[in-house]
Amino acid sequence: MCGIVGAIAQRNIVPILVEGLKRLEYRGYDSAGVAVLAGDEIRRVRRVGRVAEMESAAAEDGLQGQLGIGHTRWATHGGVTEYNAHPHISFGKIAVVHNGIIENHEQQRQRLKDLGYAFESQTDTEVIAHLVHHYYQSGSSLFDAVKQATRELTGAYAIGVIALDRPDELVCARMGCPLLVGLGEGENFIASDVSAILSATRRVIFLEEGDIGHLTRDGVKLIDKNDQPIERPVHLSDVSLASLELGPYSHFMQKEIHEQPKALSDTIEAVQDYGFNPELFGDAAAGILPQLEGVKILACGTSYYAGMTAKYWIESIAGLPCDVEIASEYRYRDAFANPKHLIVTISQSGETLDTMEALKYAKELGHQYALSICNVRESAIPRASDLVFYTRAGAEIGVASTKAFTTQLVGLFALAVTLGKTRGRVSAEAEAQYLDELRHLPGSVQHALNLEPQIKAWSERFAAKDDALFLGRGLHYPIALEGALKLKEISYIHAEAYPAGELKHGPLALVDENMPVVVIAPNDALLEKVKSNMQEVRARGGELFVFADADSHFSESDGVHVIRTPRHVGVLSPIVHTIPVQMLAYHVALSRGTDVDKPRNLAKSVTVE
Ligand code: G6P
Repeated sequence: MCGIVGAIAQRNIVPILVEGLKRLEYRGYDSAGVAVLAGDEIRRVRRVGRVAEMESAAAEDGLQGQLGIGHTRWATHGGVTEYNAHPHISFGKIAVVHNGIIENHEQQRQRLKDLGYAFESQTDTEVIAHLVHHYYQSGSSLFDAVKQATRELTGAYAIGVIALDRPDELVCARMGCPLLVGLGEGENFIASDVSAILSATRRVIFLEEGDIGHLTRDGVKLIDKNDQPIERPVHLSDVSLASLELGPYSHFMQKEIHEQPKALSDTIEAVQDYGFNPELFGDAAAGILPQLEGVKILACGTSYYAGMTAKYWIESIAGLPCDVEIASEYRYRDAFANPKHLIVTISQSGETLDTMEALKYAKELGHQYALSICNVRESAIPRASDLVFYTRAGAEIGVASTKAFTTQLVGLFALAVTLGKTRGRVSAEAEAQYLDELRHLPGSVQHALNLEPQIKAWSERFAAKDDALFLGRGLHYPIALEGALKLKEISYIHAEAYPAGELKHGPLALVDENMPVVVIAPNDALLEKVKSNMQEVRARGGELFVFADADSHFSESDGVHVIRTPRHVGVLSPIVHTIPVQMLAYHVALSRGTDVDKPRNLAKSVTVE
């Protein structure tokens, strides 16, 4: 994880670095630092904690310069200390910021120690600083020193490098972690993502694996992984600055929960434009989808739960076998591969390392085709896939995923219907009805958002609890899992989810008056079964908090609290029922005073194992 930013300009770049790091904090937020060339020294300010703390320290220090690099960290190698915070500096001459993990850092560390280098941190990054220094002081240019050093590294990196006696050069390199170059007028930038430099420029070049960049104030030169000079296309970013601001909201998570009607209708618009036709997933889809014999979904975290929901749709609507696997597990097992099973990766960021590696592994095992459901254009996972569906959720900044999840579900639903149609299982009438249900979805989600005052009232009861249990059945079981994940991520209450029918095989033993039990119980085919499961909880003194819809016909009674969405929305019901569990987690976290957008120990983009 971690975020990096760098700038070379004719003005003081410290405010640009600091603002950039604030925008990149979603990538890691346990410590931050900047290094700038200031006269005859590289000056560095680092602090444990948030970027704001480092910003104050930099202001106190009067830090200024026209060339510099910055970093916000999510610790992997070495604890959260100032010594381990980036930038890392070698002999006062070379400063490096790094996102990623250097796998051969131990061998390199030993080699560099033998060459006389002393290490002041436990990080893998310090190895890069010394290695670049080693080549630089042997006579290589800064660019060549970075080239020689990176060609000896294995693992993943996006790095920015400056040198004491090179006031006109910023060098960067990328392998396995995102990095882009921003083009300004008489100034240029590097960043992990475009949000970091948006106030300075919208013109960006996405680096490819193995690229190395040489930036001056007036130009940018790139070489590719074969050391050949290369020109990469310049993109004009359409990310708006407003989408990165909080506006009237207190937290990004709150903002993003409330943006869901818009995010959903934007995503549904794509479906409407193409209909449930293969072209929705790219030009090659018409040749690929009819050949398929099954689907294998790979994802992590919340995206994995989107995949679990999709399994129900794909098997019932498309009539194709579908299995769903946690990417980090799949990549290390001898999995059976049917080449005609489509790999579907789901990733908000498009850069989750485990998902990316699982995709590569699936291809090695012989899967012929891969489809990516992703929210970030030009990110690594869709670029490594044959087909893609981009969700139109807009920038998601809160670490706990919300609008990305519900829009992923729209993409997956569209996939299920499209596959069903390709296989002759979806009649024109059914297709029209699915489209109609999608059109009504943003309105139903808005109705669910209107339940916020009631959910807020419930949250007080949860705030003092240590544990919570979430139950659901069928299509709503993954939503119970997502509700439990949200609650544990941001409120730190231990929460687990079970398919309600499984209650009697273990978790019922945990139920007593101290264990709130959240039940997702819309009026679907399993409702009566869920009601029986709820009786089992009540009989043991458990307190029930039920999310139902108007058609479920629940009434409040002693120990049974009910919140109803206005109506049952059929097959898209899991999307609507996600909203209340998101809001519950949000309000419980608020009551407990946690850092909602940046929960402890977590990060949004997990680019390490
Ligand atoms: C992290 C985030 C989660 C996210 C997961 C997968 O754990 O905190 O919110 O669901 O990564 O991320 P992806 O970008 O691949 O969807």
